[in-house]
Parts: sequence; structure tokens; C-alpha cells
Amino acid sequence: MKNFLLNIPAAGRIILFFYRMIKTYKYVSGIVKHYVKWLFVSRETTNFIYELNKKNKNYLAALLANITGKSINEIIDYINEIESDQELINHFRMMISKSTESGKTDYNFKYGRRVGWYALVRILKPKIIIETGVDKGMGSCVLTSALIKNKSEGFEGYYYGTDINLKAGYLFDGIYKNHGEILYGDSIETLKKFDKKIDLFINDSDHSSEYEYQEYLTIKEKLSDNAVILGDNSHYSDKLYKFSIENGRQFLFFKEEPLNHWYPGAGIGISFKK
Ligand SMILES: C[S@@+](CC[C@H](N)C(=O)[O-])C[C@H]1O[C@@H](n2cnc3c(N)ncnc32)[C@H](O)[C@@H]1O
Repeated sequence: MKNFLLNIPAAGRIILFFYRMIKTYKYVSGIVKHYVKWLFVSRETTNFIYELNKKNKNYLAALLANITGKSINEIIDYINEIESDQELINHFRMMISKSTESGKTDYNFKYGRRVGWYALVRILKPKIIIETGVDKGMGSCVLTSALIKNKSEGFEGYYYGTDINLKAGYLFDGIYKNHGEILYGDSIETLKKFDKKIDLFINDSDHSSEYEYQEYLTIKEKLSDNAVILGDNSHYSDKLYKFSIENGRQFLFFKEEPLNHWYPGAGIGISFKK
């Protein structure tokens, strides 16, 4: 390649440089535009908030339909249910405005891949959910709002979040807190002491691959027969895939496509039994 370029005269190399730039810029222009805008309007530094694009939501629904045997339309209805939940949006708005964290957070209530978590809770009606890694508590509220809806249909469930940060979970309050609690401390230490059967486990704490894998090993004997595990690290690590293969479980991965955002998207690793 180096020799090939050296054989082209200098003027030709400059023309080729701009030709290639013009031809390929369309692939990054959206990202650059959204990134520059975000730098000015957002206050986030981590755990970015965005919506999934419509095609991506449809693909998510199709994937969950395949896993659960439900119809794609039913799952799309659940996604619409959480995205149009005005009570939850009002709750977030109120909690952020009265929190000391308000200066660090955007008033942007989009749930990204968490709409998939929500739909699964609505379908599976789990009695016990664990989410490791709570951060502000957006996942906690999304998951417990699904439990509230399940309860209104006669299915009880309870949520446990774990977080090492004693300040984590400031959004998790009000009616949502009636359906769960946060267990503070190192996640693996908390999971070792956990003595209930887990129906839905969501890994989203320390994102090192080894820590993630240790979480799965720690809960292995605590899973109920048809438990589902969701990995929030699976776009980066293959530990949930590895755990699934080792334990006779199925594994699928859903890749996020954020709408109007520069972030390339994370995903959901899904480990389940057929
Ligand atoms: C990506 S955030 C979780 C996001 C959250 N699930 C949501 O839906 O927005 C990761 C969280 O894991 C917590 N964490 C990191 N290491 C941990 C550990 N060893 N034990 C428990 N929590 C941990 C961090 O304090 C942070 O709040």
C-alpha cells in the first residue's frame, strides 16, 4: 500500500485523499454532527441516555418474540407501554429536580435497551429480579414499573438492585420503591449472601469481563429453572456467551442502534433455557 501511494504523483495523492474523504464522509457525518451537538447540550459523562431507532426496536421485539414465543406485536405494545408511561417521566423529572445530582444529568427520559428489559419482565412475570449496578436508578424504575403493571394483572414480583456506591439509586423512590430495594456493597459479596431463587438476573455493575463472569458463577445455583440472564456487557465481553455454553443454555445478542446520538450503542446478551 505504501509503495502504491508513493508511485502516485503528489497532486494525484491529494486528489485521491479528498475523493476518498467525500465518498466516505457520509458514514461518519451523522456521528460527528451528533457528537458536537452533544458536547454543547448534554451534561452526561457516562451511562448515556438515548432512544433506540424504530427499526432497532422492531428487531428487538422480533428477537424477544423468538425467545419467548410471544407475538412481535405484543412485545411492541410493551415497548410502547414503557415509552409512553407519563407517570414514570414525571417521577424522573421530580426526582432529578430535587436531587443534588440535577446539575450532572440531562432531563432526557429515554430508556435505550432497557425497553427490552421491561418487555421481558412484562412477558416472564418474574417473582425475583436482580439488577447488579444501579447507578442513578433508571433501570430500577423501569423494571419496577413493569412489576407494578404485572401486579395489576395478578402477578407479584420484587426487585433487588446492588451497588457499591452508597449514593446510587437516587431516582429509585416513590411508588417504585414499594416494589424493590437496593442492597449496597460489592455486588459479588451481596450475591453470595442472597438466599432466594432468581427469575431474572441483569448484570450491569463492574464491567470488567472477569468480574462479570464471577457474578454469573456466584448466582449459578440460585437461578430458578427457567431463569433468564441479561448481560449489559455483552457488546464488549463474551463471558455470558461462555457461561451459557458451559451450562447448557442458549445465548443471543441484541445490538443497540441509538437514535440521533453519537454513541455506537451497547446491547443485551440474553442467556436462557429452551
Ligand atoms: C453502568 S452503571 C449501572 C446502570 C444501571 N443499570 C442503569 O440501568 O442505568 C454501573 C454501576 O455499577 C456500580 N458498580 C461498579 N462496581 C461495582 C461492584 N463491584 N459492586 C456493585 N456495584 C458496582 C457503579 O457504582 C455504577 O453505579
